[in-house]
Amino acid sequence: MSLWQKHAIFEKNSLILLIGIVVVVAVGGLVEAVPLFYLKSTIEKVEGMRPKTPLELAGFNIYVREGCYNCHSQQIRTLRDEVERYGHYSLAAESMYDHPFQWGSKRTGPDLARVGGKYSDLWHRDHLRDPKSVVPGSVMPPYGFLEQRELDFSRIADDMRVLRVAGVPYTDEMIQRAVGDVTIQATLDDPDIDGFLARYPKAIARNFSDRPGRITEADALIAYLQHLGTHVDFKLYDNKANIR
Ligand code: HEC
Repeated sequence: MSLWQKHAIFEKNSLILLIGIVVVVAVGGLVEAVPLFYLKSTIEKVEGMRPKTPLELAGFNIYVREGCYNCHSQQIRTLRDEVERYGHYSLAAESMYDHPFQWGSKRTGPDLARVGGKYSDLWHRDHLRDPKSVVPGSVMPPYGFLEQRELDFSRIADDMRVLRVAGVPYTDEMIQRAVGDVTIQATLDDPDIDGFLARYPKAIARNFSDRPGRITEADALIAYLQHLGTHVDFKLYDNKANIR
């Protein structure tokens, strides 16, 4: 009996065909999945990545709450036009502390993975208040209410504890000092600024929305936006060969 004739067993009996399909699909699945169990991590370590400061984390929570991800992605692909427009393509490590991740699936607005430092805080304040005031044709909705609302950061330490369970390396000290660190970063109003910078290297501490004495939701969101994409020194990781 030739091989071809043996195949007739599958073609004549749907149950055997079904079992055959399951076996073939399972082999494919195993080939993909098994190596992952032997890798310590699928994410390459990258110099400069640190967990978000409590203020940036509060801003991240607002970003998620307001659904900014519905219009904005945070993943620059290895395509030439994207790299020309937004900067170095995203590395896996850059979103390893985001839970939930913010890669997004739709770009009504531009990618935000490297928006940090691109504009001034004041630009962001005006843009959130009334996007058309700085980008005339903008279809982004206004978020002016964020600067009217005081930031509630009473539970930020709990958020950090939860993230620690998911693998974000927050230390006990970071968690203990979370509430104080929000105040330090948003108002600079504290002698422990050096301690803060030791906990979160290169974090930006300043008055983010020009309202001294108050910490609003806009402050947190702007602090978050300004930190995006600013951690990794890409001179160390430049790899143009990956760009298509
Ligand atoms: C309905 C879709 C939509 C939503 C929701 C939305 N945006 Fe936008 N966003 C846009 C569009 C379109 C632009 C481009 C025009 C402009 O700059 O206003 C934009 C631009 C931006 C820019 C400037 C980016 C750059 O590189 O020029 C930032 C920053 C931004 N959005 C932040 C946010 C944040 C934060 C939220 C959530 C609070 C948000 N957006 C929600 C559509 C949206």
